[in-house]
Amino acid sequence: MSEANGTQTSTAAGDALENLLQENRKFAPSAEFAEAAVAKPGVYAEAEADRPAFWAKQAREVLSWDTDFTQALDWSGAPFAKWFVGGELNAAYNALDRHVENGLGDRVAIHFEGEPGDTRTYTYAQLTEEVKKAANAFESLGVAKGDRVAVYLPMIPEAVITMLACARIGAVHSVVFGGFSADALRSRIDDAEAKLVVTADGTWRRGKPSPLKPAVDEALSAPGHTVTNVVVVKRNGEPVDWHEGRDQWWADTVQTASAEHTPVPHDAEHPLFILYTSGTTGNPKGILHTTGGYLTQCAYTHKVVFDLKPETDVFWCTADIGWVTGHSYVTYAPLINGATQVMYEGTPDSPHQGRWWEIVEKYKVSILYTAPTAIRTMMKWGDDIPAKYDLSSIRVLGSVGEPINPEAWMWYRRVIGGDKAPIVDTWWQTETGAHMIAPLPGVTATKPGSAQVAVPGIAVDVVDELGASVPAGHGGYLVIREPWPAMLRGIWGDPERFKETYWSRFENMYFAGDGAKKDDDGDIWLLGRVDDVMNVSGHRLSTTEIESALVSHPAVAEAAVVGAKDETTGEAVVAFVILRGNAAEDPDIVATLRAHVGKEIGPIAKPRTILVVPELPKTRSGKIMRRLLKDVAEGREVGDATTLADNTVMQQIAASLKA
Ligand code: WTA
Repeated sequence: MSEANGTQTSTAAGDALENLLQENRKFAPSAEFAEAAVAKPGVYAEAEADRPAFWAKQAREVLSWDTDFTQALDWSGAPFAKWFVGGELNAAYNALDRHVENGLGDRVAIHFEGEPGDTRTYTYAQLTEEVKKAANAFESLGVAKGDRVAVYLPMIPEAVITMLACARIGAVHSVVFGGFSADALRSRIDDAEAKLVVTADGTWRRGKPSPLKPAVDEALSAPGHTVTNVVVVKRNGEPVDWHEGRDQWWADTVQTASAEHTPVPHDAEHPLFILYTSGTTGNPKGILHTTGGYLTQCAYTHKVVFDLKPETDVFWCTADIGWVTGHSYVTYAPLINGATQVMYEGTPDSPHQGRWWEIVEKYKVSILYTAPTAIRTMMKWGDDIPAKYDLSSIRVLGSVGEPINPEAWMWYRRVIGGDKAPIVDTWWQTETGAHMIAPLPGVTATKPGSAQVAVPGIAVDVVDELGASVPAGHGGYLVIREPWPAMLRGIWGDPERFKETYWSRFENMYFAGDGAKKDDDGDIWLLGRVDDVMNVSGHRLSTTEIESALVSHPAVAEAAVVGAKDETTGEAVVAFVILRGNAAEDPDIVATLRAHVGKEIGPIAKPRTILVVPELPKTRSGKIMRRLLKDVAEGREVGDATTLADNTVMQQIAASLKA
């Protein structure tokens, strides 16, 4: 970690700590809830006694294996883990066919609600049939076990169908969030050497058609890629360019394929998917997950953390499948567990700000899983909006993606949860695959703002600079001490980067990149990233990646990006740029640069603010002191600048911003 960042962290963490230390409310589950809960207090001790054995038990309980495994964990090649060695299974069979075989074919798997108000319902039998067709179609296009498939789709059932069809045939899906640009899509296609792309003509955003296919065409316009076919779902009916021979309509390939398809078993460690996420350097990392361990922890946590009763619950996770939350808690866990879920395509305020609550009322959603940024937005819209709907079906509320401030937590509980639904704040990452820290709603007395305790079978800790465990009441770095089933198995094509990124900071521990604190009860409070990763609306963005995008524009000489506190989005992207030549005379330069970042990475990465400055604050070794820029971006008095190579820089910046 750079000198600049180390200091930045302690300041940000210090502020957060101040606020959190005053929080001492606790909400114990009602006796009735605790009595009926899936998880009981004894589970922690049971897991602690023998973690691998505990996970082996869960693996056999939540999954059906074609070949039983012979060893729970092989850690001899650490930090590359092997879980459930020798076991064989098929992820799609576990998510679908077996439920049909068990007489649950008529249970609703997905209630789909499109933004324009169209709806579709898939029972387990119907979804199984669709996935079999897609598996046949992809195979007929030459996709075989181990091949990579890029998925660039909106939140429509075809996204889940595509992912499961890949899993069924052993192809590795790489979902690219629909909000990413053609350039970002191309670099992910190239890195994974994808053979097939599955996309749609487009989707809807706030009542307007929003295209997707043009980005795929642009991504594939330059030669040298590995893609042989593009399958296109017709969703919004907008005209699209067509590449004969390469492009295929979903309706012509998947819909017409046979609905007979026998799943073949895959090794427990067979790659299931790659998902790219931002790190501290410019290139996104392809996080690799495999089959048996990932599915075990997804399904287990979905059951115990949300207290899932698949016969009666209606689960709704609002995350897009482009993010890990959509992978683990839309595509995989709910279906493995045979649950009924809601899938919604659009934005929360389309056509009105009560859309989510209308959906909760309509489908009687009982477990809602969303992000603090959404909760804060809805808080701003006002209590009278959710008050118009019957939310009495809700019995558990989940939060994910960033620390939830106590005020938003309390609002969520009171206004959405009727002052009684337990809130589970779940800490985890793309890399961890599934929940790692979260209360168990029938066991833990929850605290507003804290994720609190490790999931049974998971060993997390907070350590100091030297890696020593900190006592209760102290802060430090969040680490994971023991391998866990859903852990990433590496970074696609770059084993060294995997070791370097996660395993080099502390010996024999996985370093998550987050700061955390233990309170007097030993409960964990997350304090945000301690590296160059920003968290905007729960989406990970790398400061370096946005800086690279900015300097790739000819008008920019140098750029520095910081995440500044934002009431709604948690953090917002603020960029400081030094312009070349007379670019500063161009009145549209800021708009041009924002659009450029949008094109390079995607609209989510566009800086909220771009400030043109004459210089950037650097240390004598040339590192940008982002902490000082963060002070400027957040309107604070600038902190200690004595380590700057040129100590007049901050005055120059201040003067230029006033001008
Ligand atoms: C942050 C999302 C506090 C954290 C599942 C982590 C959280 C990063 C929480 C991973 C939470 C996620 N409380 N912070 N409950 N959940 N984070 O990979 O900084 O998109 O490292 O995975 O989000 O983001 P990712």
